[in-house]
Amino acid sequence: MAMDIPRYLLFSFIITTHLVSSILVDQNSNNYIIHMNLSAMPTPFSNQQSWYLSIISSLLQITSDQVTINNHQLNHLSSSKLVYTYTNVMNGFCANLSPLELEALKTSPEYISSIKDLPIKLDTTHSPQSIGLNPVSGAWPTTQYGKNVIIGLIDSGIWPESESFKDDEISDIPSRWKGQCEKGTQFDPSLCNKKLIGARFFNKGLLANNPNMTISMNSARDIDGHGTHTTTTAAGSQVKGASYFGYASGSAMGMAPHAHVSMYKVLWEGGAYVSDTIAAIDSAIADGVDVLSLSLGFDEAPLYEDPIAIATFAAMEKNIFVSTSAGNRGPVLETLHNGTPWVITVSAGTLDREFHGDLTLADGTIVTGMSLYPGNFSTDKVPIVFMSSCDNFNELIEVKNKIVVCEDNNGTLGAQVDNIDRARVIGCVFISNSYDITYFLQTKFASIFLNPVNGKLIKDYIKCNSNPKASMKFKSTVLGTKPAPMVDSYSSRGPSHSCPFVLKPDITAPGTLILASWPQTVPATELQFQNNVFSNFNLLSGTSMSCPHVAGVATLLREAHPSWSPAAIRSAIMTTSDILDNTNELIKDIGNDYKPSSPLALGAGYINPNRALDPGLIYDAQKQDYVNLLCALNFTRKNIMAITRSFFNNCSNPSLDLNYPSFISFVNAANNGTVGSKVKQEFHRTVTNVGEEATTYVAKITPIEGFHVNVIPKKLVFKERNEKVTYKLRIEGRRILEKNKVAFGYLTWIDSKHIVRSPIVVTSLNSDLTPP
Ligand SMILES: *[C@@H]1O[C@H](CO)[C@@H](O)[C@H](O)[C@H]1NC(C)=O
Ligand SMILES: *[C@@H]1O[C@H](CO)[C@@H](O)[C@H](O)[C@H]1NC(C)=O
Ligand SMILES: *[C@@H]1O[C@H](CO)[C@@H](O)[C@H](O)[C@H]1NC(C)=O
Ligand SMILES: *[C@@H]1O[C@H](CO)[C@@H](O)[C@H](O)[C@H]1NC(C)=O
Ligand SMILES: *[C@@H]1O[C@H](CO)[C@@H](O)[C@H](O)[C@H]1NC(C)=O
Ligand SMILES: *[C@@H]1O[C@H](CO)[C@@H](O)[C@H](O)[C@H]1NC(C)=O
Ligand SMILES: *[C@@H]1O[C@H](CO)[C@@H](O)[C@H](O)[C@H]1NC(C)=O
Repeated sequence: MAMDIPRYLLFSFIITTHLVSSILVDQNSNNYIIHMNLSAMPTPFSNQQSWYLSIISSLLQITSDQVTINNHQLNHLSSSKLVYTYTNVMNGFCANLSPLELEALKTSPEYISSIKDLPIKLDTTHSPQSIGLNPVSGAWPTTQYGKNVIIGLIDSGIWPESESFKDDEISDIPSRWKGQCEKGTQFDPSLCNKKLIGARFFNKGLLANNPNMTISMNSARDIDGHGTHTTTTAAGSQVKGASYFGYASGSAMGMAPHAHVSMYKVLWEGGAYVSDTIAAIDSAIADGVDVLSLSLGFDEAPLYEDPIAIATFAAMEKNIFVSTSAGNRGPVLETLHNGTPWVITVSAGTLDREFHGDLTLADGTIVTGMSLYPGNFSTDKVPIVFMSSCDNFNELIEVKNKIVVCEDNNGTLGAQVDNIDRARVIGCVFISNSYDITYFLQTKFASIFLNPVNGKLIKDYIKCNSNPKASMKFKSTVLGTKPAPMVDSYSSRGPSHSCPFVLKPDITAPGTLILASWPQTVPATELQFQNNVFSNFNLLSGTSMSCPHVAGVATLLREAHPSWSPAAIRSAIMTTSDILDNTNELIKDIGNDYKPSSPLALGAGYINPNRALDPGLIYDAQKQDYVNLLCALNFTRKNIMAITRSFFNNCSNPSLDLNYPSFISFVNAANNGTVGSKVKQEFHRTVTNVGEEATTYVAKITPIEGFHVNVIPKKLVFKERNEKVTYKLRIEGRRILEKNKVAFGYLTWIDSKHIVRSPIVVTSLNSDLTPP
């Protein structure tokens, strides 16, 4: 293989002589992810890896003219600088480069773009101690679909011994599967089976960024717990008698209990990097997964620099459905990540279940509140004392052998929990109406959280008794609580930063208090007088938990409709979702004072897997539709190429009007001066009939105050299955100046069997990105 220095590199480095003392160690080196123009790969190279090695070795030679090294040393050094070669998700590589080497590389005509390798965060729980409901009891995964489908998860690894991976009811591994169960620390390939069919780990980027780091568990084994939890949420086999120390007890199983799963570990104790995450998605695509679940994201990067957006474009082209988490930065608007048009973006909501503890007063009155205390409280009739805001630490220590009652009036709940914990009080009752109680529920000490009405009962009892006493009892689970579901406050909100013209998030799924499997050696929680306690199941909250629910449902749809594109599956999930709760009112938003949730928090609705199997109509989209959108975003040719990987992108038909099952219109007056000036936006959509042979749909529009919404035509007549029909949606009104106004309504197409609903948002947000 030729090691010639490409001529284009020769001229650019006159400045190097005084800079390079040794080419072996450059303290300023960084990891970069570099996109290259594959169409321009010189013919002598047989594959991308050899081309990239040759490029790196040329960089070494020109940026280090003082040092003479032989060919053998040069090869060795080049290999050590090349961290990854990417061939599926992008054409390019990850390498450890000095600033000079990077500058030299940028002068190459085959160079497209580069981003620095950065740490990436999983959308773990909004609190590591947060907890969750069981996603699997009740009406949900009653079917046994998903048996030929493979779900890949990019996460913290897997605990293969979990009972949720038993494979007695699982079909044989599909012959198309090319994945592997990699050997590593405490991980023998024999740990995989017909359920867990792949387990790989990626930490070359982490190590290149942190050369001195030692990896204690150098394998796909999960020593965090997150990956085991998400994987079993998506596709765990049924486990009877599951519970979290008696809470949420029942039979646990994932959304697609018969699907195969493969783990790609990228989250390490020392962190997670973009380069490893891209390598993991690259492998998952090559291995042959059908569905990917990514409970991680990148805040505020443009699409062409967002590694998840780039890697998932390739997945979409290979017909792989990608579920991503919206993030846990709510309830503020414009906080979501993964607002990428070719993936589904998932918000988190509650279930209709609560965990309770009882406080029994000495007079026999029982007062119930929320609790998740996992321990036992055996002492009967303990003195109980009211300590108002519990902010005086010394006073708390004096009453630590009593049940202490604290009242939160000013959002001081977190500080109160902290004080009680430090004072080592044996039991506590918190009176609070905070919407974020689930964040604090998992205390190390015995605790019950009461609403102000029940709190008053306790206060009155203490006031009226000379020797007030009470007992505490835990571990009751209440089903069918109302109203439910609701969007939880931590769930990140739209619109998308990277592409505001596509309404995001797409869907809400269960994310709060979710029960799923947990590694036996990772503490499930801590107790005051017992330290770590262990459990095979744990309760967690976050969009990390809602994302694998949607991956599991998509798996069922892929099994039922193998020919559907990822966009078709997404459309089915969105248009069939629920917008009403179990009291028949609009689903509420905990983070917005329990008001009806706007689509910027809820997406199209709350997922309804049974209805998604038969959506009636779908809004489909293919690669070229997304390219048309990228062209309309005015990205440079190179930016578009970084996403699509093809050197020719047809931009003859740019359009921000993607064929998507939702609508968002920006009506801000700030850009265009005139408040009250008329604004009119028209959307074009094409729907495909995937229901009955011949049918007619009629439009129903929920009005939006201050705007006139019209659909043309008002009836869609289909003569046969798979027929496509086009319609227009027109929004007319006047520009508004009121800041951050969000108004919404729905367009619903109805035939005798189907209800196909799309949310419509009209907002004054995002003036910068508003198209004229
Ligand atoms: C990539 O290379 C091809 C073939 O040399 C060339 O036609 C194309 O313009 C290049 N694309 C970019 C964005 O540089
Ligand atoms: C890594 O270890 C070497 C040798 O022990 C030491 O000189 C260097 O400072 C360490 N680097 C970092 C970033 O800690
Ligand atoms: C609580 O009591 C039960 C029954 O006696 C026991 O099995 C369990 O281990 C105890 N839990 C803790 C956390 O001590
Ligand atoms: C809440 O804050 C207000 C003003 O900061 C203060 O007057 C009041 O005492 C506080 N209430 C409690 C219970 O701490
Ligand atoms: C793209 O550029 C055109 C022409 O300058 C402009 O009209 C349009 O608003 C731009 N689109 C976006 C999304 O910025
Ligand atoms: C680009 O797409 C348009 C349709 O939008 C098509 O007419 C044209 O032939 C395409 N151009 C190339 C070079 O493929
Ligand atoms: C501003 O609004 C006026 C009146 O509706 C319209 O004619 C004009 O095209 C708008 N200009 C821009 C830049 O949005």
